[in-house]
Amino acid sequence: MMPARVLLLVSLFLIVACSEQRDTGQTGNTLTLDQILGRDLSPEQVTRNFDPEQVARGQALFRKNCAACHGQNAEGTPDWRKPLENGRYPPPPLDGTAHAWHHSTEELKNFILNGGPPGEGRMPGWAGILADQEVDDILVWIKSLWPDEVYQGWYTRIENRPK
Ligand code: HEC
Repeated sequence: MMPARVLLLVSLFLIVACSEQRDTGQTGNTLTLDQILGRDLSPEQVTRNFDPEQVARGQALFRKNCAACHGQNAEGTPDWRKPLENGRYPPPPLDGTAHAWHHSTEELKNFILNGGPPGEGRMPGWAGILADQEVDDILVWIKSLWPDEVYQGWYTRIENRPK
């Protein structure tokens, strides 16, 4: 039988090891919604005061440039979690059901402008094709699609995470 003290040490180690895997949103795919919406989430609702004209511009730009891969409503490919035969992943949903909300606005914008992942070019870069403002418009439209709890978790834990 293992002495209780050893057991305690082992479980402490496991707890530490697990919490260190916690994704900060930088590379983003291990955090669950429950983890994001953790204990100390501020109770007041985060509201989105998006300009409806900007949202409409973003939608039009998205449908023209991005929908061929990501879908008319940013719903992505049904099997986006499954790699294709070439080992690459199909375009994911951006509507709040996948990982896009694990990234800050700045990270999303950089990804859209430069494509990626770096060196692999699975997602084409849009620098020189879309203006900065157009990418901002698209991002506002994308965020307008996210369910309230997703937007709130993103806003508190990702966009305004402690530096
Ligand atoms: C040719 C197909 C294609 C087009 C067109 C395209 N994308 Fe993508 N996009 C992808 C693929 C594939 C990925 C997944 C890349 C990966 O494996 O990480 C992706 C990933 C993304 C991500 C990261 C999602 C996440 O969960 O982290 C964002 C944001 C994104 N695309 C936005 C856009 C926007 C905005 C446009 C239009 C301006 C666009 N995409 C056009 C194929 C495309």
